[in-house]
Amino acid sequence: MKITYQEEKRIFKLDTAHTSYIIGITDDEGFIGHVYYGAYIRDEDVTYLLRTGERPLVPSVNNRERGAFYDTFPCEYPGNGLGDYRESAVAILDQNGNTAVQPLYTGYRICDGKPEIPGLPATFGTEKECQTLEITAEDAVCGLAFSLYYTVFADVDVITRSVRIRNTGKAPVYLTKVMSAALDMDAEDYQMLTLCGSWARERVAERRPIGHGRQSVGSTRGESSHQEHPFLALVNKHATEDAGSVYGFHFVYSGNFLAQVEKNQYDSLRVVMGIHPQDFKWKLNPNETFCAPEAVLTYSGSGLGTMTRNLHDLYRKHLIRSPYRNQKRPVLINNWEATYFDFDTKKLLAIAREAKRCGIEMLVMDDGWFGRRNNDDCSLGDWTVNEEKLPGGLKHLVDEVNRIGLKFGIWFEPEMISPDSELYRAHPDWAIALPEREPVRSRNQYVLDLSRPEVVDYVYEAVASVLRSANVEYVKWDMNRQLTDLGSVYLGAERQGELLHRYVLAVYELQERLTREFPNLLLENCSGGGARFDPGMLYYSPQIWCSDDTDAVERLRIQEGTAMIYPLSAMGAHVSDCPNHITGRVTPFATRGNVALAGTFGYELDITKISEEERAQIPEQVALYHKYHDLIREGDYYRIASYSVNREYDCWGVVAKDRSEALYTCVQVTARPNVHSRKLRLAGLSPEKRYLVEESGTTAYGDTLMEAGILMPELRGDYASALIHLKEV
Ligand code: GLA
Repeated sequence: MKITYQEEKRIFKLDTAHTSYIIGITDDEGFIGHVYYGAYIRDEDVTYLLRTGERPLVPSVNNRERGAFYDTFPCEYPGNGLGDYRESAVAILDQNGNTAVQPLYTGYRICDGKPEIPGLPATFGTEKECQTLEITAEDAVCGLAFSLYYTVFADVDVITRSVRIRNTGKAPVYLTKVMSAALDMDAEDYQMLTLCGSWARERVAERRPIGHGRQSVGSTRGESSHQEHPFLALVNKHATEDAGSVYGFHFVYSGNFLAQVEKNQYDSLRVVMGIHPQDFKWKLNPNETFCAPEAVLTYSGSGLGTMTRNLHDLYRKHLIRSPYRNQKRPVLINNWEATYFDFDTKKLLAIAREAKRCGIEMLVMDDGWFGRRNNDDCSLGDWTVNEEKLPGGLKHLVDEVNRIGLKFGIWFEPEMISPDSELYRAHPDWAIALPEREPVRSRNQYVLDLSRPEVVDYVYEAVASVLRSANVEYVKWDMNRQLTDLGSVYLGAERQGELLHRYVLAVYELQERLTREFPNLLLENCSGGGARFDPGMLYYSPQIWCSDDTDAVERLRIQEGTAMIYPLSAMGAHVSDCPNHITGRVTPFATRGNVALAGTFGYELDITKISEEERAQIPEQVALYHKYHDLIREGDYYRIASYSVNREYDCWGVVAKDRSEALYTCVQVTARPNVHSRKLRLAGLSPEKRYLVEESGTTAYGDTLMEAGILMPELRGDYASALIHLKEV
C-alpha cells in the first residue's frame, strides 16, 4: 500500500520507494497537521513532530493561547485571518466583506489511480501506477468545503497535490487566494534554488540562503514567464549533485504563479505554491467548485541529480501525452533566422530541396505567411495565407514540400491580435483592454480576450481550418507578449479578477481541442523563446522552444537550467548560423550540433547560403541524431561539470536505463594554455559493467570510469567540443 491511514492515531502515511509523507489530524477540532516529509521511514508514530505536547498546546487544552497555536502549528493547508500570520494557503472575501477562513478535517477517501482535474493539465497514471488520497475539510462558518488531493507516484518518488473548494453556503463567496500546496517544516539550513532569467537568458539556476521573512519567485505577467519560473527547491547547504537533501516543488500551470519560502520566528519554513493572488478574485456561487492546478513535490536524499531524474521520469511517464513522447521527432529546419519575414514559396522550396539533400526531414514555415505580415507590426488574427508570398496557397506549398520528401510544419500566434488587422477592425472589443485606456502595446500587438467563448471558437477555427486545408504535421504555437490592461468587456465588474485564470484555461481548452482533432500533430509550444516553458504546456506538447537564443555557449546555461527539471526530449534546440544573431559569437558548427543534440534537434539557418564546409557536416549531425536520439530521449541525465560554475568547460551525460550505453558531451568554452588535461568523473554507469569507449577504443569498468575518471579528450580552441560514447561490452 502506498497510502495508509491509522485510524486510532489519525495518521495518514504516503510512501514512495524512497520517501514518506505523513499527515496527522489533531483529535480535538480536526486541525490538519503536517508531520513529516523526507526520506522513507518505517511506520512508527512520529506525530511528536507536530509539537502539540509543547506550549502553546492544542486549543482544547489551552484555549487562552489559541492564537499562538495557530501561529506555530505545522499545517497542511493553512487558513487566513485567525492568528496564523504566516502566508495563508487560502483567503476569501465573503458577503460581509470578511476574509477569514479555516479548513478543518471532516474525512478522507483513498483510491487507486488519479482523478483528472477538470479543465487543467495534470499528471496521470493507471491504478497500478499511483494512488490518491483525498482529505476533506470544511469551514462551516463561511460555507466552504475543501478537498486536498495527494497522489503518490511511488516509482518516481513524487507526490502531487491539488485542491478543490466548493461553496456549500447560500451566498456567493470570492476566493482571493487559492494555493495548490503548502508545506511546513523545520529550517535545517536549507537554501532556496530557483530558475530565473529574461528573454534569451531563460531559466538560469540561482541558489541563495533563506533569511527570515518571505522570499519568493512569481509571475504576474499572465504566463509562467522568462523572468521567474514556477519551480523552487529547498536544498541543503552542502548538497551537491549526488549528496544531500533536496525538496523540489514544481507547478503544473502556465499563468501567474507564486512560489514562496517563509522562515518564521521559530525558524520553521513554510513553502507555498499556487496561482499568484495578485489580480486574482474568483466568484464562487453556491454549489460551484474551484479547482486549483497541481503542484509536484519530490524529495531526494541523494542530491540534485536525483531530483532532476525524478522529475524527468515523472514528466516522461505521467505528464506528456503526445504520441511523440517516446518517438524520434523529425529533424526540422525552421526558416525564422534564415529569412525572417522575407520569404516566398520559391525561397522555401529552395531551402527544402537543400535540406532534403542533407537528410533533414521537415520544413517549418515560421512567422510571416499570413495577412500582410511583412514585419511584426500587423496582421495577427488574420490567419489567411498571403498569396503574394505563397502563390497557389498553402496546399500548393505543402504539396511541393511533401513531393521533395519533407514533412511540413507551420507557425501560429493564435492568442494575439494586431491593432492593424482585419480582425481588430471588425472586433476591437475582442482585445483585452481597460475602459477609457488605450491598451499598452508590446511588439505592437494586443492580446485576445480568451475569457469570451466566441473568441476561443474563432481562434480554434482559424488554426484548425488552416490545418485541415493541407498536410500540416507540426505546429509551433507562439505567444509573444505578456498581459497588461486586465479588462474584459465580457466579464462583468465582479468577475474581472477571473480574467487571467480564465485566459489560461482557454489556452488549455484550445490545445486540448487541437490535439484531439489532430492527434498525430507534433505540437511545439513557444513564447518569445521560452517564456511559457512549464509543465502545463508540456501536457499538450511534447516539446517547447527553449529560448530564442541559439548561441551554443549561452545554450549551455539555458539548457542546463531547463534540464534541471525538464527531460531533454522536451527542449527545443536548433543549430543556427554564425555570427549568432543574438550574441554575435562565432562557435564551431560541430559544437552547435553537439549542443542541439541535447534537445529535440533541428536547424534554423539558410541552408542554401551557409558555407559548403558547414553544409557538409549536416548529414553527419543528422546521423548522430538518429544514432543517439533514443538514448537522449529516454535515458537518465547527469550533470558532470557546469560552465556556469567553473567558467571554463561543461559536461553532461545521458545513460540508458539499463546502463548498457551512455553518451557524454564536453564543451571547452575557454581554452587555456599550459595546463594538465581535465579529469572527468563520469556518472550514472553500472560499476560492474565493462564499457567500450568508442572514440578511443579502450575499455574500462564503470567504477573506474566513475571513480578514477577519464581524461577529457584534447580540444583545441574556444568552444571546441567532443562526444564520448560508451557501450557495454
Ligand atoms: C518568437 C519565437 C521565434 C519566432 C518569432 C516570430 O520570438 O520565439 O522563434 O517564431 O517569434 O515572430
